[in-house]
Amino acid sequence: MSEEKFLEGKVALITGAGGGGFGREMAKAFASKGANLVINDINEEGLEKTREIILKDFNVEVLIAKADISDSGQVKEMAENVLEKFDNLFLLVNNAGIDGGLYPTLKQKEAMYDKIMAINLKGAWNVTKSLFKQMRRQKHFTPVAGKIINIVSCAGTANGANPMVGIYSVSKAGLLAFTRLWALELGKNNITVNAISPGVFLTPIYNNDPNLIKDFLKTRGVKIPIDKIGESKMVADAALFLASPGADYITGQNIIIDGGMCISVNKF
Ligand SMILES: NC(=O)c1ccc[n+]([C@@H]2O[C@H](COP(=O)([O-])OP(=O)(O)OC[C@H]3O[C@@H](n4cnc5c(N)ncnc54)[C@H](O)[C@@H]3O)[C@@H](O)[C@H]2O)c1
Repeated sequence: MSEEKFLEGKVALITGAGGGGFGREMAKAFASKGANLVINDINEEGLEKTREIILKDFNVEVLIAKADISDSGQVKEMAENVLEKFDNLFLLVNNAGIDGGLYPTLKQKEAMYDKIMAINLKGAWNVTKSLFKQMRRQKHFTPVAGKIINIVSCAGTANGANPMVGIYSVSKAGLLAFTRLWALELGKNNITVNAISPGVFLTPIYNNDPNLIKDFLKTRGVKIPIDKIGESKMVADAALFLASPGADYITGQNIIIDGGMCISVNKF
């Protein structure tokens, strides 16, 4: 990645940036290229921590936007606050998500079904819906007016559909479909929309516990060809590439970062 500060003067909003996982790592990556940040989460303490980490190392502005993305009212208010503080929103990363625990789809409780869908799928739709018009107005950003990155999952791909987190898989497959639909809908406005699908990474979603991940893989009989658990920086690096001018002609795509896990499921 070049040393050039290609996000200077541009604002990046990241949902789920209060956890110690991808959100925080992407915030650091975008700030390193000069982006001002809007960091969203329901976890206020986590957001304060992310802001502290960013401000220690980077001379950028950071707006904390606590909001439950499944609640369209809170999202609308968040979008208003963003546009009151900043004059643009170049980059939107729909990263917040929950897995809802380990259950086969038909044994999952209705309330949890609703919650997973409301956060992982409707949440991304709420946030995108509240801000795409601002991106569309940014004709002065050429050749691309705005970029959207959806953090999906191997579990949302055809190969990786995971019966242990079935409803999560369905929500992520839906987010992948949104990725292609939004790329189609917003292409004429010079807005790119892409997805990143991580495999298994050491983050709070796995309690930062490598043994939990190893057990999870063993139970499913999955062997990762590159036999390592991923690190958040790998996802942040891919997000930074999608945010960079080098990716301006890429849209509607899904970058799978999984050490080959998806292609190996049920193959060994
Ligand atoms: N860790 C992995 O191996 C892995 C693999 C594939 C996909 N993912 C996806 O990556 C994304 C980030 O997860 P992570 O692993 O970095 O864990 P994380 O726990 O650090 O990130 C998820 C964040 O989303 C926030 N959140 C939950 N509900 C919310 C809501 N209603 N509104 C706003 N924020 C909310 C949480 O508070 C948390 O901070 C998720 O979408 C997850 O599904 C993770």
